[in-house]
Amino acid sequence: MSVVALSGLSQEKLLEWYDEHQRDLPWRKTDDPWAILLSEILLQQTQVSRGLIYWKRMMDTFPTIQSMAESSVDKVLKAWEGAGYYSRARRLHALSQLVMLPSSKEGFDGSLPSSRDALLSLPGIGPYTAAAVSSIAFGQPFACVDGNIRRVMARQHQMTEPSNKEVQSWADEQLVRQRPGDWNQALMELGATICTPKKPQCHLCPVNSSCLGRETATNYPKPKKTKVKEITLWTCVEFDADGNPVIHQRKQDGLFGGLWGPQLIEGQKPGKNGDDDFVGIVSHKLSHRAMNVHVFVSTEQSQKTGRNPSNLALSVLDQKILGLVRESGKGYTPDTKS
Ligand code: ADE
Repeated sequence: MSVVALSGLSQEKLLEWYDEHQRDLPWRKTDDPWAILLSEILLQQTQVSRGLIYWKRMMDTFPTIQSMAESSVDKVLKAWEGAGYYSRARRLHALSQLVMLPSSKEGFDGSLPSSRDALLSLPGIGPYTAAAVSSIAFGQPFACVDGNIRRVMARQHQMTEPSNKEVQSWADEQLVRQRPGDWNQALMELGATICTPKKPQCHLCPVNSSCLGRETATNYPKPKKTKVKEITLWTCVEFDADGNPVIHQRKQDGLFGGLWGPQLIEGQKPGKNGDDDFVGIVSHKLSHRAMNVHVFVSTEQSQKTGRNPSNLALSVLDQKILGLVRESGKGYTPDTKS
């Protein structure tokens, strides 16, 4: 499909607005590529306010790429706990170890590469992150495209369903090559704070004069339908003689890979087992899955060894399950049985 060149917006006005109104964020005050990479990976999955909490926690625990490379993946997952998309944390760990390798062994001698292509070759780095890091941390002229930029573009041109190719080619044309990192961030900042999905503040927009969609902004772009799969699971939590729950580490490549939790079994639990008490249902939403876990607890002491969950990385779902069991007061506890 050929992509028709679209008229642009005022680059000067947008950059002036960004210089004056940008949010005060710590990764904008550093040129450390590691800090910037971490922010871009976290911001792909969460709002700035939450991303900030995790960014600080990750930077405190792993201030340098070397510190992460020398750590275990379990420690990385513990610091990432609650942030979701755990495969990103595992890939980031793999990336840190690869970057620390000498160039004679296909590594990068401890420094993140500055070129987009070299960044793209690293685990967990896709086109968005490669363009964002190469432009923001290294001043390279690459335009990034995310949901915010797509929305700004769609509204400027009254487009309901711009294709990825159309958005990328628009972004490439708009790019201010003297300030590529600021430009990319200015567009994203506009989308995140003014040109928002539900209540855009068009009267405050620095580029409203070129915006064809201004009067009917929320029509653009048409929301993408995400298919959410409903999944029913059950679990029966057991406790050992010390009152620790029996939890295991999930396989690295599956859902919640590398994290700890009770065994989750697909399908509703058939009938009541003599030793188990039903405690309730835990519901948990992921981007493409709605999970309902029927939670049981065993009233018998487990013969297996439990673990103290506070030292291990657990997903929010697993924390909810163990929290529900604890609140219920049901199940085996050493105090009640001794
Ligand atoms: N979303 C992702 N990265 C961003 C950034 N650097 N500035 C604003 N919004 C973003």
